[in-house]
Amino acid sequence: MRGKSGVPSTLQFTGSHILSIDQFERADIERIFAVANAMEPYAMRQKRTRVLEGAILGNMFFESSTRTRVSFGSAFNLLGGEVRETTGFGSSALVKGESLTDTARVLSGYSDVICMRHPEPGSVAEFAAGSRVPVINGGDGHNEHPTQALLDLYTIKRELESRGRSLQNFSIAMIGDLKYGRTVHSLARLLCLFEPVTIELVSPEELRMPGEIVEKLRQAGHRVHETSELTEGIRQVDIVYSTRIQEERFPSAQEADLYRGRFRINQAIYTENCQPNTVIMHPLPRDSRAEANELDADLDDNPNLAIFRQTDNGILVRMALFALVLDVVDQVDQHASPTPWYSSRKSIR
Ligand code: NCD
Repeated sequence: MRGKSGVPSTLQFTGSHILSIDQFERADIERIFAVANAMEPYAMRQKRTRVLEGAILGNMFFESSTRTRVSFGSAFNLLGGEVRETTGFGSSALVKGESLTDTARVLSGYSDVICMRHPEPGSVAEFAAGSRVPVINGGDGHNEHPTQALLDLYTIKRELESRGRSLQNFSIAMIGDLKYGRTVHSLARLLCLFEPVTIELVSPEELRMPGEIVEKLRQAGHRVHETSELTEGIRQVDIVYSTRIQEERFPSAQEADLYRGRFRINQAIYTENCQPNTVIMHPLPRDSRAEANELDADLDDNPNLAIFRQTDNGILVRMALFALVLDVVDQVDQHASPTPWYSSRKSIR
């Protein structure tokens, strides 16, 4: 994938693991986004394709997940493939002391591609080293979540385009737990492949973005400003990207409680502080408990709330990754047929 020629090519994706944003060049991202666009009629159920008929996805989630796990599975199904799933350590042989390498070797005999989420940073790469089929990182501890970052940037691009803008010269505030939040780690790394933008990093002092990533952003030419004041951070930006306090990564629940609810955004705060049409994003799940409430439900009628467009876009991006990694992009349409039941669905989006 790290084609030094910079020319995007499906050949560079074929059989590749997707482990970290750092493995990509900008042309790769543009290729993924172009293929994601082409997936829309299939995701919208206007057409169906059986291009991955006979292929099996091993969906291995050793940490809690709803949307990432199900959207990987649905994306694979929408391409005609089948999904086998394991969730949690309790039901896997890892509790019996099996190494990640052995598990990988076994599961890669059963699957054509594997998606994996695991609480340990670096574990998905370790697993991939033992796998005979491509492995896609669905989140490894606080480290990275590359497919989320891809769908987030894809959403940012579409939201900006719908406002007559582009990925050039925009501004974004990343808010919340920037220390343990893997989605913001991967999104920041992804922005380093694009033209300089303005980035507000809004977090409690103790939960700042890791210094190595801030340095990387600055080296890429981005204007980076760190603050612990929400209203200062969200005042001038085009995109507000809120995140959850990652309580499962804290040494104790009490420590996570110290930070919960520090950066709530509701409609009144939005109206008072944000520019009109500022896009509101969140990787989800948003913590809707009264003491947390990162994005209040009173924002749900705000047309700038893009959180469910993000989840919808996740299907397109994950379909694109499967099609690229399994090298079937050019065959998707050849295996297409109409969907007779399509008219029975009120709407997909
Ligand atoms: C995120 C994750 O798991 O890192 N969720 C997701 O995959 N969309 C964010 C979170 O759990 O807070």
